[in-house]
Amino acid sequence: METSLHERDRAGFQDFVLLENYQSEDAFIENLKKRFQENLIYTYIGQVLISVNPYKELKIYTDLHIKAYRNKHFYEMPPHVFAVTDNAFRSLIEENRGQCVLISGESGSGKTEASKKVLQYIAACSGHQTTVEGVKDKLLKSNPVLEAFGNAKTNRNDNSSRFGKYMDIQFDYKGVPIGGNILNYLLEKSRVVAQMGGERNFHIFYQLLAGADASLLQELRLERALDTYSYLSDGLKGSVPSINDAENFKSVQQALTIIDFANEEQQEIFSIVASILHLGNINFTEVEGNAQVNSRDLVVTVSRLLGVNASELGAALTHRTIDARGDVVTSPLNQELAVYARDALAKAVYDRLFSWLVQRLNISLQAKETREARNNVMGILDIYGFEIFNKNNFEQFCINFCNEKLQQLFIELTLKSEQDEYRREGIEWIPVEYFDNKVICNLIEEKHKGIISILDEECLRPGEPTDLTFLEKLTHKLAEHHHYVCHEKAPTHIQKIMLRDEFRLVHYAGDVTYSVHGFLDKNNDLLFRDLKETLSKAGNSIVRSCFPEQELRSKKRPETAITQFKTSLNNLMDILMCKEPSYIRCIKPNDLQTSGVFNDELVLHQVKYLGLMENLRVRRAGFAYRRSYELFLERYKSLGKATWPNYKGPGGAKAGVQLLVKDLGYDNEQYRLGETKLFIRWPRTLFDTEDAFQARKHEIAAIIQAHWKGLLQRRKYLKLRAQVIILQSYCRRRLAQQAAKQRREAADKIRAFIKGFITRNDPPNGFNEDFIANAKRMWLLRLAKALPKKVLDKSWPSCPAHCQEASTYLHRLHRLHLARIYRLSLTPQRKRQFELKTLAEKVFKGKKNNYAASVPAPFIDDRIPKDHIQKVNDFVARTFGSEQLKYQSFCTKFDRHGYKSRERFILLSNTAIYVLDGKTYKQKHRLPLDKIDFTLTNNNDDLMVIRIPLDLKKDKGDLILIIPYIIEFGTYIIDTVGTAGIVNIVDRDSLEHNVVKGKGGVIDIQTGAEPGVMRDKSGHLVVTTVQ
Ligand SMILES: Nc1ncnc2c1ncn2[C@@H]1O[C@H](COP(=O)(O)OP(=O)(O)OP(=O)(O)O)[C@@H](O)[C@H]1O
Ligand SMILES: [Mg+2]
Repeated sequence: METSLHERDRAGFQDFVLLENYQSEDAFIENLKKRFQENLIYTYIGQVLISVNPYKELKIYTDLHIKAYRNKHFYEMPPHVFAVTDNAFRSLIEENRGQCVLISGESGSGKTEASKKVLQYIAACSGHQTTVEGVKDKLLKSNPVLEAFGNAKTNRNDNSSRFGKYMDIQFDYKGVPIGGNILNYLLEKSRVVAQMGGERNFHIFYQLLAGADASLLQELRLERALDTYSYLSDGLKGSVPSINDAENFKSVQQALTIIDFANEEQQEIFSIVASILHLGNINFTEVEGNAQVNSRDLVVTVSRLLGVNASELGAALTHRTIDARGDVVTSPLNQELAVYARDALAKAVYDRLFSWLVQRLNISLQAKETREARNNVMGILDIYGFEIFNKNNFEQFCINFCNEKLQQLFIELTLKSEQDEYRREGIEWIPVEYFDNKVICNLIEEKHKGIISILDEECLRPGEPTDLTFLEKLTHKLAEHHHYVCHEKAPTHIQKIMLRDEFRLVHYAGDVTYSVHGFLDKNNDLLFRDLKETLSKAGNSIVRSCFPEQELRSKKRPETAITQFKTSLNNLMDILMCKEPSYIRCIKPNDLQTSGVFNDELVLHQVKYLGLMENLRVRRAGFAYRRSYELFLERYKSLGKATWPNYKGPGGAKAGVQLLVKDLGYDNEQYRLGETKLFIRWPRTLFDTEDAFQARKHEIAAIIQAHWKGLLQRRKYLKLRAQVIILQSYCRRRLAQQAAKQRREAADKIRAFIKGFITRNDPPNGFNEDFIANAKRMWLLRLAKALPKKVLDKSWPSCPAHCQEASTYLHRLHRLHLARIYRLSLTPQRKRQFELKTLAEKVFKGKKNNYAASVPAPFIDDRIPKDHIQKVNDFVARTFGSEQLKYQSFCTKFDRHGYKSRERFILLSNTAIYVLDGKTYKQKHRLPLDKIDFTLTNNNDDLMVIRIPLDLKKDKGDLILIIPYIIEFGTYIIDTVGTAGIVNIVDRDSLEHNVVKGKGGVIDIQTGAEPGVMRDKSGHLVVTTVQ
C-alpha cells in the first residue's frame, strides 16, 4: 500500500483508511473516481477489496500478475483480487483456517467476473499434476454450465446471474484442489415464462436453438426461429451482439462432457429444455368455464420429451385434484388457472432441473478423499447485492434480506477481527459506534413477529388471503417498528411516492419500497398436485428424480419459498461464520455498460447500500494504519539515525520502530505499540512519514547511484587494468625477448670478439675472421683519420699484424700520393731547383764533403754581385749570340805560376766556359765544354781545376779556381753537358795541375781552423778547409 502513497494526489489512496475526511461521502467517491480514471479499479478498506467494474479488458490478470502476487504480503502489492485470494489461500494452507470470499454488489458490478478471477488464481497457484488438472477443469467448467442455465441477459447485464451461488473448493494439505461443492440460491424462475422488455430468458434456450445441430433440433421438434416460442417472445426477441449463442452452446456441451455428463443425460437435459419451450406454446380455450388444450400435438411433443403420458399430461394441465384430509376431489380449471398451471409447471421443471444440475455437478466435483480436507475449504460466494428498483417485488425482498444477513455477518466478523487484533496486540479496545442491522434482520425473520412469519401465516391460513390482507397484517403488527414504514403512517412526502399496496423497509443500506403484489403467490409457489404426479412417473429420469413420489405422499405442507430461502440462508451463515471471510465489494460505475464513464450518483448509491461508509467508519474507529514492525521498519528505516541502514540493536524490529518513531517525532497520541504491530491513529502522521521517506529516497537514490556508478567505473577500470596488464606483459615479454636476443647476440659477439682477439695473430680461421675483418676495418677508419698530411712526415700509425702488408703498401702509396701532390703543386722554378738538387745529390752526395752544406740553400744561376751584373750582362749580350747563358758567378783565379789570386767572373753557356776579368770584364778564356773537364776534390773546399787539353795550349795550362758555390756550379755544368763524367771528384789530399809545356804544379788540401788559399813555401798551393 505504501508503494503508491506518494502518488495519492493523482491516483488516490489504495486504502480508504488513509482518507483523512473519512466521514465524507464526497471524499470517498472522489478517491474511487480518481483511481477509476487511472484504470485502478481496486481499492481497499483495510482488508476489504472494492472493485469498480471497468467494462473493458485490463491487462492485469496475466500469468505475470499471478506470479507477482504469489506469496506476497497483502500490503506489499497494489490492491487486487489476486492479493485477496492469495491472502486467503495462504491462511488456508499455512494456518489450516477455512476461508470464504464474499463477493457482493449489484447486478453488472462484476461479481461473477471477480469470482472467476479468484478461481483462476487458485487454479494457477495449485500444482499441475494430472490428477488435479481434472478437478480444476471441472471446477472451471462448472461456470459455463451454470451460466447457461442460470444467467440471462437483463437490462443491466448481458450475462446476469439469476441465482445466488456459493462454491466450496476443497484442498488437500498441499493446497491442491481435490473437489468442490456448489450451493445455489433462489433462481429467478419467473424469467422462464416472462421477461421484461429488453431482457431475455435464460441463455440455454437461445443456445440450444442456435447451436444444436439439425438432427438434435429435429429430435427435440424444435425450429431455429425464436419467434416460434412464446416463452422467448416477451422481452428481447432474437440474439444479442455481445453473445454468441451457437458458440456458447458448443462450450456448454464440451463442459458437460468434461464434467462427466453421459450423452443420455445430456439428451435428457436438452429434452427438458425443449419441452419447456413447447409447453409455453400450449394454449387453452375455455368451454363453459373449463379450460381445454388447444394444441394437442404440442402436449404430445412435451409428453414425449418428458416421457410422460400425453393424455395424463393434458388432463393435469386442465384439472386440479385436491386431497383434503383423505377426500380427493378433482375439478376442472378455467383458462386462467390452466395458464397458471402451465407456467407453474414450466417454472418448476426448470427450477428443479437447475437444482438437479447443481447436485449433479456436485457429484462430479465430489472429492474422492475427503478425510484430510475437512478444514481445507475455501468458499466463494457470488450473490446478488442489494437491489432497489422503482418497483420492488418478492424477489427484491428476498435478495435484500439476504444482504441484511450478509451485512450482519460482515459487521460481526469485522468487529470481531478488529477486536481480536487489538486483544492480540495488547491494545486497549475503544468501543466502536456502528449501526447494528440486527434489528432489521429481526424485523424480517423473527419467529411469529417477523415479516416472514406473517407472510407464511397469511399464505397458510384458510379463507381468502390476498396480498393486501397480508399488507394489512404487516401494518397492523409492525407499524410501530422504526424500520417499517406503511402508507398510512408515512410522512406526507413519502406518502406521495408510495402506493397503497406498498410497504417500505428502512434497510441498513437505504429505504426500499416493496409492492406486495405477488408476494403470496410467489411464496406459495404452487404447483398443482396432478402435474407433480404426472412428472413423478416421467420416463425422463431427471424429471423423475426432480419430482419424487415421496413428495406427494408426504403429509407435511411444503415449505414456503421464503422459509426455504431463510433456511438456506441461515445454513449459509452457519457455513460462513466458521470461516475466515474476505470481502470483495463490486461497484458498477455506470448503467450504460460502457468503459470510462463514472456516474457519481450511481456509485454513491452503491457505496451506501454496500455499507462501505459504515465499513470504513468501523475500520477507522481505532487506528487508521497498522503494520507489522518488520514491514514498517523495512520501509521507513532510512528516516531514523539508529535504524539506517539496518537496525541491529537488541529488541528486534519493535525496538527499532520505537527508536524510529522517536526520531520521527510522533507524540503519544499518534501511535500505539502492539505486540507485533505499530498502530498509527491518523493518516496525516503516516503521510508526513511517507513524504519524508519520499524526500529521503532521493538522497538514498543518489547514494546508491553514486555507489553504482562507482562500481561500474571500478569494474570498467579493473577490466581495463586487466587488459593493460595483459598488453603490458605481452609488450614486456616482447621487449625482454628482444633484449635477451640482443644480449645473446652481444654475448656471442663479445665471445667471438674475445676469441678473435685471442687468436687475432693466427692465420685467419673460423674464430678470428670477423675480428680480423673488424680490426682491419677499424684500422682503416683510424688510419683515415691519422694519415700524415706532410710529405716529409714519415710517421705512420701502427697496424694489426694482419694489416702489415697492406699498411706498408698503403704507407708507400700514401707517401707517393703526398709526393705526387707535392710535386704537382711545385712551380717550374722549384721543379727545376729540385732537378738540379737531385742531380747534385746524385753527383756529390757522399763524394764531396761540402755537399751537405749546399743542400739547404736553393741553387741560383746568377752569383754576380749587383754592381757587376750590368757589365757582365753586356758582355753576354755582346758575345754569346746563339749561345745560352746557363750560369754565372764571380770566382777567384790562381795563377799557375806563383798562385797569385785574381778576381774573375766565370760564365757557363750551353757550349763553353767563359772567364772574364774581374775589373775589365774582358774575356780571358773561352773553353768549349766538349774539350775540357773539371776536377774537384772530395774535401770541404771550393777548389775547381779546369783541365784544358793541349790543343788549347794558348790557354797555358789548367785553370785553378776557387768557386764560391762549387756544388751549385758543378751541378749546372753537368746539367748543361748532360754527362756526369765531365766533373771528376778526386779523393786525394793533393792535386796536380798542368802549368804549361808539360810542367805541372801541386795543390795541397789541408784542414784547418780557418779556410784559406795560399802558396806555401814549397811552392804548392795550399787550400785549407774547415773540417
Ligand atoms: N474485472 C473486470 N474486467 C473487465 N470487465 C469486467 C470486469 N468485471 C466485470 N466486467 C464486465 O462487466 C460485465 C458484468 O460482470 P458480471 O457478470 O461479473 O456482473 P455481476 O456482478 O455478476 O452481475 P449479476 O449480478 O447480474 O450477475 C461482464 O460481463 C464484463 O463484461
Ligand atoms: Mg453474476
